Amino acid sequence: MKVLVKNQLIERDEAKVDVEDRGYQFGDGVYEVIRMYNGQFFTYDEHIERLYASAAKIDLEIPYSKPELRALVDSLMKANNIGTGNVYLQITRGEQSPRNHVIPSTPPEAVLTASASEVPRDTTLFENGRKAILEEDVRWLRCDIKSLNLLGNSIAKNKAHQAGAFEAILHRGENVTEGSAANAYMIKDGKLITHASNNLILEGITRQVILRVADENDIPVVESGFTLTDLAGADEVFISSTTIEVTPIIEIDGKLVGDGKRGPITKKLHDAFTKEIMKQCGELAVN
Ligand code: PDD
Repeated sequence: MKVLVKNQLIERDEAKVDVEDRGYQFGDGVYEVIRMYNGQFFTYDEHIERLYASAAKIDLEIPYSKPELRALVDSLMKANNIGTGNVYLQITRGEQSPRNHVIPSTPPEAVLTASASEVPRDTTLFENGRKAILEEDVRWLRCDIKSLNLLGNSIAKNKAHQAGAFEAILHRGENVTEGSAANAYMIKDGKLITHASNNLILEGITRQVILRVADENDIPVVESGFTLTDLAGADEVFISSTTIEVTPIIEIDGKLVGDGKRGPITKKLHDAFTKEIMKQCGELAVN
C-alpha cells in the first residue's frame, strides 16, 4: 500500500511523521475524506473547497495549489488501484521544536499525509439501517471546522459501539446537533428537519446534496433543528456522511423509530442521492 507524505508517494511502512509535528502534539490540523465510485470521485471539488476553508479558519496555509493537490491525490488512487473506496487527507501545521502552544510567527511547512483504501458500498447500511444512542455533545464550539481534534467525536462513537449501536446522536441539552461522525435528520409529517449549518455542526457535503435533492423532490426542508422531544416523536430518522450515504436510524436508546424499518422518505432521499452519485461516477448496483 502506498501513502502520501508531503508530495511523495511512498510505501506505507516507510512513511514517517515527526514526533514534534503540531498535528501529533496538539491535533493542530484539518482533514477530509472523499469517496470514489467506479474510479471517479464524488463531489471532489466540494470536499477540497471545505478543506481549504477549514485550513483558512485556523490560519493554516496549504502548501499546494488545488491542481497540485489533485495531481497528488490522483496519483495516490492510481498507485493503490482504487475503484470504489475512500481517501483520507490530513494537513497538519508541521514541526515545531521545542514544543510550544504558541504558533511560531514564521509558520512551519504544513505537512500533508494521505491514504486510500478500497471500501465497497455496504447496501445493508442503507436498507436495514442501524441503531443509535443519545449522548451529550461535549465538543468545542467550532464544529464547523473539519479539525483533526476528534476526541469528543471518538469517545461518543466508542460509547455507541460499546452499547452495540452504530452511532451516537449528539445533543447540547435539549437540542440535537449531529452524529459523532455524520449529520443527523428527522422526518415529521413529510418534512425533513435538521440542524442549521452553523458553528455547532460540520456542514456535510452529503448534507448539501441531500438538501438539494429534497428540494428537487418537493420534500420541505426545515433547518431550524429539533429537540430530544421532537426526536422521540419522529416518523423517520437518518444520518448521512461521505462513507455511509443516507443511513436510516431504526432504534435510539433501545426504542424503535417508527416501525423500526427504513421509512419511505428516507428511501426516496437515498434513491435520489444514488442518482447523483451515478451522474458523476457511472452505474452502481441498485439497492
Ligand atoms: N465524517 N459531521 C461530522 C462530525 C462528521 O465527522 C462528518 C463526516 C459529517 C458528514 O460530513 P460529509 O457528508 O461531508 O462526509 C458530519 C467523516 C466521514 C469522517 O470523519 O470519517
